[in-house]
Amino acid sequence: MKTLNYSDHTLIQQKISLLRDKKTPPSLFARTIYELSLMLCTFATYDIAVKSVSVTTPLAKTKGVRLESQPILIPILRAGLGMVEGFQTLLPDAPVGHVGVERDHKTLKPRFYYYKTPPLKSRDVWVLDPMLATGGSLDFTLTKLKEHKPQTLRALSIIAAPEGIKLLEKKHGDVVLYTTVVDKKLNQKGYILPGLGDAGDRIFNT
Ligand code: PRP
Ligand code: URA
Repeated sequence: MKTLNYSDHTLIQQKISLLRDKKTPPSLFARTIYELSLMLCTFATYDIAVKSVSVTTPLAKTKGVRLESQPILIPILRAGLGMVEGFQTLLPDAPVGHVGVERDHKTLKPRFYYYKTPPLKSRDVWVLDPMLATGGSLDFTLTKLKEHKPQTLRALSIIAAPEGIKLLEKKHGDVVLYTTVVDKKLNQKGYILPGLGDAGDRIFNT
């Protein structure tokens, strides 16, 4: 798996600091996840396939582009939902599927509870989840999505831990990970350090 990490971008550093701050209220937390998702979407669409079109400006004819097809967005419930609006703002015609996976708090193993996506065969599929910790949830989701034979798979995260990246490098060499930052490590309970706490709880104020 190839990892693209944008942590040297000043605006990303400022927004990640807001997310990390335990005093940031849920409304600003969710808004900041949205803003970082806009930025991640900008980075991930850099090389998206386009068709050439002709455009007439008020002054001249020129060449332009339109997107050839839009990726299918798959947020992992719950916290991935917080990233959907940012991606849809820039890719308004992108279809959205949903996969429900949650970690068992004791074993840290993924528990699967929901799957509903459009047909994935031969499509570009982007999996959205702000937190990549042990990598168990994303590994499970990618394995499940691969059964439906997508053309390419990308994962998009806000904070990734080295442990999760290592697992995905071992098991999903064909996937590209876009992340705004890579943190230090996991604590004994599988939380990312320094991290931001529980992303789902902070987005949804639970
Ligand atoms: C969080 C997060 C990821 C997962 C990452 O979800 O959104 O899906 O943990 O951890 P992992 O890499 O160790 O699998 P959580 O299980 O807390 O569910 P929630 O979004 O419903 O709160
Ligand atoms: N899931 C989260 O929401 N936060 C972590 O630090 C790890 C997993």
